[in-house]
Amino acid sequence: MTNTVMMNNNNINNSESKENRTKRTVKRVTIELGDLTQHNLKQLKVLNRDVFPVAYNEKFYKDLLGAGELCKLAYCNDIVVGAVCCRIDLTDNRRRLYIMTLGVLGKYRELGLGTLMLEHVFKVCEREGNIDSIYLHVQVNNETALSFYKKFGFQIISTAVEYYRRLEPSDAYLLERSLKKTPSNEQTSSPTATQQNSKKVPSVPLSTITDVD
Ligand code: ACO
Repeated sequence: MTNTVMMNNNNINNSESKENRTKRTVKRVTIELGDLTQHNLKQLKVLNRDVFPVAYNEKFYKDLLGAGELCKLAYCNDIVVGAVCCRIDLTDNRRRLYIMTLGVLGKYRELGLGTLMLEHVFKVCEREGNIDSIYLHVQVNNETALSFYKKFGFQIISTAVEYYRRLEPSDAYLLERSLKKTPSNEQTSSPTATQQNSKKVPSVPLSTITDVD
């Protein structure tokens, strides 16, 4: 999928003076998704190191090579600037898609790349056909990510206490977006979904991530 968006140079050089920036013209940029391969795996590692405060181990990356549509790189004018990595979990007879990472390099945010990746995830679920919901963890102070996911109908389901071993705050919200077709779910697909039913639950296994101090 390829999208063309208008990008003001403000997004790519935050250090410029306001006067200079207002004189610059708006540029057209192409944003698109591409497959993860052996050849660009290193780019994903570098990107994740830049974007996330946790480090992912070699097994995490090795498994991604077989993930197909569950892992995509996001390109802005042919440069890797974002990535989404998911897995499908089967628990309690429920098939759910878990977003392990979804991130964009700082300079390339608010251009629609996050949306492009999340829309891809929704399409994967639609194609699979029998996914109950999409879920993920977000550090409790990550207001940007919370706004982003709430726009797409995700709701806070619970708080995973001390989810991150070496981050402060260490708690994470568990966010979920049901994909079951019910009247109430159709309403939550709007960006106005609100926080609900926050309660304490144990965190999920953390075998693939290491918090970075
Ligand atoms: N403040 C408030 N809302 C925001 C912001 C912001 N800074 N940025 C995005 N949003 C919301 C808005 O509702 C926006 O819609 P709008 O443009 O109509 O206002 C919507 O998100 C979509 O914005 P995009 O441009 O598509 O999002 P972007 O490409 O900037 O990516 C992301 C959003 C992924 C959260 C990005 O900020 C990022 O990479 N953050 C660091 C990594 C991270 O925190 N990832 C999520 C962690 S959880 C996980 O990975 C499972």
